[in-house]
Amino acid sequence: MGILDRSEYYDLTRTTNWSPSYVTEDELYPESMSGSRGIPMEKWEAFDEPYKVAYGEYVMTQREKDSGAYSVKAALERSNFVENADPGWVSTLKAHYGAIAVPEYAAMTGEARMARFSKAPGNRNMAVYGMMDETRHGQIQLYFPHEHTDKSRQWDWAHKAMHTNEWGALAARHFFDDMMMTRDAISVSIMLTFAFETGFTNMQFLGLAADAAEAGDHTFANLISSIQTDEARHAQQGGPNLKILLENGMKEDAQRMIDVSFWRSWKLFSVLTGPMMDYYTPLEHRAQSFKEFMQEWIIGQFERQIHDIGLDTPWYWDEFVRALDETHHGMHLGVWYWRPTVWWNPAAGVSPDERDWLEEKYPGWNDSWGSCWDVIIDNLVDGKPELTGPATLPMICNMSNIPIVGTPGPGWNVKDYPLEHNGRLYHFGSGPDRWCFEQEPERYQGHLSFIDRFLAGQIQPMDLNGGLAYMGLSPGEMGDDAHDYAWVAHYQTEQRAAS
Ligand SMILES: [Fe+2]
Ligand SMILES: [Fe+2]
Repeated sequence: MGILDRSEYYDLTRTTNWSPSYVTEDELYPESMSGSRGIPMEKWEAFDEPYKVAYGEYVMTQREKDSGAYSVKAALERSNFVENADPGWVSTLKAHYGAIAVPEYAAMTGEARMARFSKAPGNRNMAVYGMMDETRHGQIQLYFPHEHTDKSRQWDWAHKAMHTNEWGALAARHFFDDMMMTRDAISVSIMLTFAFETGFTNMQFLGLAADAAEAGDHTFANLISSIQTDEARHAQQGGPNLKILLENGMKEDAQRMIDVSFWRSWKLFSVLTGPMMDYYTPLEHRAQSFKEFMQEWIIGQFERQIHDIGLDTPWYWDEFVRALDETHHGMHLGVWYWRPTVWWNPAAGVSPDERDWLEEKYPGWNDSWGSCWDVIIDNLVDGKPELTGPATLPMICNMSNIPIVGTPGPGWNVKDYPLEHNGRLYHFGSGPDRWCFEQEPERYQGHLSFIDRFLAGQIQPMDLNGGLAYMGLSPGEMGDDAHDYAWVAHYQTEQRAAS
């Protein structure tokens, strides 16, 4: 279909802006949506995306990607992989689809914001492809889990999760609404595409693909790596906009957006990807630990990228690096303990071999998180499973909307970071979480966390059952131990031998 070679027209079409005559420029690009920050139109025309693509090429490549992923799925369907897979891996799949599929669809509207309102024509052009990418990601990640809905209603949460008040869904929506649904086009390009997509989607879509390939789940490995190739392209919208902001003296604004979005992304990944990689994925299939993946993708690559652009390492970097050793262990312990409140079955991942692995990857694990698991294990061995289930609710952070955790045992550092603002007391899980709130209190102040709603009497009856009903979790949907406590048998034998 192409008559001209791409190089003959691309630069012209990519920089096409025009002077509106029926409306003013401000009416065409309201500041609240475009976020041009007073930088004139012609400066935005300098937007130069590193990854160039034209529509004909886009359609051809996407068609190949889609047919690749769907044909791998079709070819492997008869092997009944999911039926025979380790239940911990199945939980990874269920958690992933519920947390990711519908937000991908929402990301399409974030892309649409740039496609319509960015004053950089190249940004608008790239974002149109981004919209089509995110539509594909939403569709394919709803289609793949759908075939399993007859096995368990938990699979249905691929579609259902984001439409409920389940606590993880609340946390994910709070984050994604902040990054991509309620910001101007330029902020979306920086907070969503640069900080979240270049920084973190690599972790979920390439790191987890490595684990999937190890686990023999070629359908999932193929699916998510095909998604990441799109992310790698449309994530490049933030960089050129950052360059324009920096050239126009707006480094402080740019840095703040990166710092907020990066921290928020990290917290979400600590509860989602951390447990998947270090606890749910069967030991023999773990490509690397969560911390090693983070060191490779985030510390190594993302830090270099922000320096190349001329930005600084976020101010809380030391705390972030330290948190790589701890936060996700606390999140995992909490998710397993409050297991009826999630739509997947958390795998404990604390058999003796797994504990050896954890101790090797995270020296000191046995003395800290291990000591909490010891209590759980003793209760299960003693036949008192009722003592391993929740009777109370955890303290929830008013920024991340996930539990406030820290290191248990001798290195105890669990701490609330409170803030009184306009007569209301807010609680945060860390200094950076509180700092994010302080950057724009008017943006966050009205939100009620799950606990705030509980204390306000919005959840009735005020007990676990009331909470589960409020979260939309019915029997058959709420989580339980992935392996039905089979791993406890080893400890029983051990104890019998000892006595
Ligand atoms: Fe996506
Ligand atoms: Fe994306």
